[in-house]
Amino acid sequence: MNRPELIRMLDDLFHDITWSVTDVHKRAGDVVEGGYPYIAASPIDQYNLFKYVSTLFRGRKLYTKDIKFLDCGCGLGLSMQIARKVGFDAYGLEYSPSMIKLGRSLSPYFYSRSFIKADITTYKDYDKYDVIYYFRPLSDPKKQDEFEKYLENECKVGAYLICLYKQDKFSLSKDKRFKLIKIPRGGDWRRWSPQIWKKIKHS
Ligand SMILES: C[S@@+](CC[C@H](N)C(=O)[O-])C[C@H]1O[C@@H](n2cnc3c(N)ncnc32)[C@H](O)[C@@H]1O
Repeated sequence: MNRPELIRMLDDLFHDITWSVTDVHKRAGDVVEGGYPYIAASPIDQYNLFKYVSTLFRGRKLYTKDIKFLDCGCGLGLSMQIARKVGFDAYGLEYSPSMIKLGRSLSPYFYSRSFIKADITTYKDYDKYDVIYYFRPLSDPKKQDEFEKYLENECKVGAYLICLYKQDKFSLSKDKRFKLIKIPRGGDWRRWSPQIWKKIKHS
């Protein structure tokens, strides 16, 4: 097996494992709105995207471990794991207790403090993070749109937002508080319309 085949095989395996636990919250009877812990993006593409964002900090933050990363609706915390591999100090918000329990059990040493049980639509501490990521956590378009606008108001100046499957794809291009960061070419994740925005001023 050559290296690209090995990578593809590991990628498929990763998807199979995450897919197999996709309804853990429903089986446990958690009250969640259309939530699912699975994302159909390649972890390799996610790693490359996060790594790229880490390079944007050069000179300002010396070590990536000083960069606080947040996944909004982190499910089992797989994207947090990937962010951790990049070197970020990674956290995730999740409101399903069974997903947090299973996620913590996957890597108890790292995860005990990384999962924050909170509702992403009312969370008060978005201004503590340098990189904030989401992959379409809410299935309802109106709620997803309200969440996006709330996050854009609450995050701090200097923060990067990594938005996948944004509800309103064009809203920030007219918003003077945000600057679009060009994403390098390549990567399968382009079909999820990733956008990276930097907040450059409050109003
Ligand atoms: C598509 S999954 C995202 C998985 C994760 N971001 C990743 O990249 O691996 C969406 C997650 O958001 C969670 N979620 C949905 N609404 C939420 C809310 N209002 N507050 C906190 N978590 C929420 C769901 O329980 C689900 O685990």
